[in-house]
Amino acid sequence: FPSDKIRNFSIIAHVDHGKSTLADRLLELTGTIRKGHGQPQYLDKLQVERERGITVKAQTATMFHKHNFLGTETNFLLNLIDTPGHVDFSYEVSRSLKACQGVLLVVDAAQGVQAQTVANFYLAFEANLAIVPVINKIDQPTADPDRVKEQLKSMFDLDPDEALLTSAKTGLGLEHVLPAVIKRIPPPPGESTSPLRMLLLDSYYDEYRGVICHVAVVDGALRKGEKVASAATGQSYEVTDVGIMHPELIQTGILLTGQVGYIVSGMRSTKEARVGDTLYHTKIPVEPLPGFKPVKHMVFSGVYPADGSDFEALNNAIERLTCNDASVSVAKESSTALGLGFRCGFLGLLHMDVFHQRLEQEYGTHVISTVPTVPYIFEYSDGSKVHIQNPALLPSNPKQRITACWEPTVTATIITPSEYVGSIITLCAERRGEQLEYSFIDSQRAFMKYRLPLREVVVDFYNELKSITSGYASFDYEESDYKASDLVKLDILLNGQPVDAMATIVHRLKAPRVGRELVDKLKKFIDRQMFEIIIQAAIGSKVIARETVSAMRKNVLAKCYGGDVSRKRKLLEKQKEGKKRMKRVGSVDIPQEAFHELLKVS
Ligand code: GTP
Repeated sequence: FPSDKIRNFSIIAHVDHGKSTLADRLLELTGTIRKGHGQPQYLDKLQVERERGITVKAQTATMFHKHNFLGTETNFLLNLIDTPGHVDFSYEVSRSLKACQGVLLVVDAAQGVQAQTVANFYLAFEANLAIVPVINKIDQPTADPDRVKEQLKSMFDLDPDEALLTSAKTGLGLEHVLPAVIKRIPPPPGESTSPLRMLLLDSYYDEYRGVICHVAVVDGALRKGEKVASAATGQSYEVTDVGIMHPELIQTGILLTGQVGYIVSGMRSTKEARVGDTLYHTKIPVEPLPGFKPVKHMVFSGVYPADGSDFEALNNAIERLTCNDASVSVAKESSTALGLGFRCGFLGLLHMDVFHQRLEQEYGTHVISTVPTVPYIFEYSDGSKVHIQNPALLPSNPKQRITACWEPTVTATIITPSEYVGSIITLCAERRGEQLEYSFIDSQRAFMKYRLPLREVVVDFYNELKSITSGYASFDYEESDYKASDLVKLDILLNGQPVDAMATIVHRLKAPRVGRELVDKLKKFIDRQMFEIIIQAAIGSKVIARETVSAMRKNVLAKCYGGDVSRKRKLLEKQKEGKKRMKRVGSVDIPQEAFHELLKVS
């Protein structure tokens, strides 16, 4: 395929606007997958993705399409590069876009432009890509394509006449999509006679073949058997297999300029496959392609086995899972309360949830995860600075005075029906937000921009926003700077013993309320035991909230009168069963849910 017959494009959209459905229809239209066969939404592979209806890991597929080009029927090679739709994964979106020359910007005809439409539009716009607007779901009774056209014009200066109207569900208008891709998106610009320059887009681990890398050949060509080197590490690899995703891997033995495909090259772990790396022929070094944004971990949490003996199993599961998701950072840590475990860094809360869910579903491990934290910076009176990813590591009574601290912030975009503006302003004020922009995108919808501390966004912000706006507001954020703040460490003590895994860092003014809520939550979840349990929240040595769980009077066996052995055994079994998801901290048993509930206190 000469590169003028190639088009590389992505579909970008707000969550649920129909990106995956449209992708499936295009794959069907081109005969890449058979209609009604296989799983619905071919591009969404992971079980959690299907359950939650979100796209986590970007997948890519090559399609062949015959198109009447200047009067002759011509074969085109179209590479559809799937991108995830959720805010946590915007780094994956920008990564995928590097291999594209254009995008289909899908907008729901009833919902109109939403927060992630805005974020995705700017990613594509900044990357200088051709943008083909697609107004989807026009079959819905509430569809109002004209209003969406106006929004596209007023917000993005897109020509309303260029918008395609489709229903990925009924098939209406789909015949115009691929011709628009071919006409409006330019072919890849690379030089076929130049030395090989290849972009590493993504990688995953396959049990049988090892590490499989998705690549885009920018200049030159790659053949099976050739040696390639990584610009990032200097390591050299022999390419043992090369081909396209159709969407199954199909060997072609060669990838030419402008093509997107896969390679297998004897890498042992996906950690060697650095996304955004440039690969070139060993011995013919080239100028590396401009890099991608490096992965930034925004949320950290401790992950511990729910019953102490399972550390090895958890270790194995985490190792295997991170083989496939190099965007999670993992470091061993230990906690006096929870024993041996791991400190994991995630792109965001959803990413964290997905990771936990996969640990449970795919590896059958039960974990306790500690209250998520964002990365803070503290400065001591001797001028030294520490980065804190685990609140437990910040001394409760430091030897030196803390002279300054900083917390990460984000710029948040919220789009909402105008009647909810008041409640959103209140919510953002409670969350220590600073309003940056407030305008109307049409007669019914407001557009708001806020700078918010990341911590305030991480703790249940999205759920709260959904609930005060009946689900009508949409939300997206991008990372902003660190900002000076007045932060304190909040300890939780059980019978006078601090529980390191429950420590959090909060704003000084919020500490009394958060302390009170944490103590109340714990009281609800900790069952009465043989002795009294005192629950306290404290800043340094100052207790700011306190509750007591009174002692139980009888024990389980008291009813057995020593006689009935089988009944006694049954009761003990039952008690053991109940304990499975318990964690003994000091002498107190804490159920797994208690840890989980603490995540929701803001
Ligand atoms: P993410 O993968 O989470 O980004 O979502 P998505 O944008 O890929 O959306 P998806 O394709 O999963 O579609 C969301 C829902 O909208 C599904 O229930 C689809 O069946 C439905 N849907 C998609 N296209 C249409 C359409 O044209 N009309 C109607 N009525 N429903 C549609």
